[in-house]
Amino acid sequence: MNNIKKIIIALAMCFIVASILKVGISRVTYSKTGYKGELPKVGATIYKYDDEFMSYIRNSMENDAYGRIALNMNDSQNDQDTQLKQVDEMISKGVRALAINLVDPKAAKSVIVKAKAANLPVIFFNKEPDASVLNSYGKAWFVGTDSKESGILQGKMIVDLWNENKNKWDKNKDGKLSYVLLKGEPGHPDAEARSKYALDEINKAGITVEELAASTAMWDAAKAKDKMDGWISKFNNRIEFVISNNDVMALGALDSLEKAGYLSEEKFVPVVGIDAIPDATKKIKAGTMVGTILNDANNQGKAIIDLVTNAANGKNIINGTSWKITNNKYIRIPYVTIIKDNIDIAEQAYK
Ligand code: BGC
Repeated sequence: MNNIKKIIIALAMCFIVASILKVGISRVTYSKTGYKGELPKVGATIYKYDDEFMSYIRNSMENDAYGRIALNMNDSQNDQDTQLKQVDEMISKGVRALAINLVDPKAAKSVIVKAKAANLPVIFFNKEPDASVLNSYGKAWFVGTDSKESGILQGKMIVDLWNENKNKWDKNKDGKLSYVLLKGEPGHPDAEARSKYALDEINKAGITVEELAASTAMWDAAKAKDKMDGWISKFNNRIEFVISNNDVMALGALDSLEKAGYLSEEKFVPVVGIDAIPDATKKIKAGTMVGTILNDANNQGKAIIDLVTNAANGKNIINGTSWKITNNKYIRIPYVTIIKDNIDIAEQAYK
């Protein structure tokens, strides 16, 4: 009898302990009807993890989210359908807000349809949706940059560098700047604006140009290296400038030029990019790359988390922050021209 009593008491204690644990666990779980724990749940996507610049934005977001929101980060693997499924999943898990780096900028509409149906705020970042689409939903915002600004700054930088060095860099002395252009993904607002406005600035400065070749390398180093290998064998000594829509492609081109002996004093071909990622600033310091434009990943990540945290808590989107909002929709982080002389600005930004 005694033993039976002991067993009953032991079972009762197990039951009590299990109940306490269960209550504990439920304090940090989420339900469809809303959040039950201390941190609001937020869903985010990166168009692909395998993009160096985006990995800096992701790191900044993850660091900044710590202790403020429960961030569910997803790799959309460069596939829009995958991303839309991830959005559905996040919504069904009870997120309070979404932060979306689109795969295809045109898919903003489909994301908004889903967010609207669940009455969820959505912050798009890095790939800017069309203004009409963003304006179609009161709870949609964009965090990024002004794409046009990066093109203008890159163009001005090329003008200054060319004017200072044309005695050396205009190899055939025809007075023309003969360039090859490495473009980002077609249809990406940054790629389109950078290509257009960089060249507009060079033309505006009265420099005659010759476009030897222009092609997309999809923001990718290996693709850029392949293109550059082909252009070097086709144009030989005629290439006088490499203009790249981002640093990763500039580094791919640099690799190709280096292997073909084009970084020596007399054959030197200047290369410029955009982003100011650490691998590029190292090259600028070493003198093999001549300049870039800082695309401030750290501050973009911080702004995304500030906005999405406010959104998830039902507060005004810029509540308690110092971000400047335009048209009630856009937070745009400024670009900065980076050459060897002010490289510390880029190093500081990517610390
Ligand atoms: C960056 C690129 C990056 C792209 C991804 C651009 O703003 O400059 O390096 O690949 O965003 O969308």
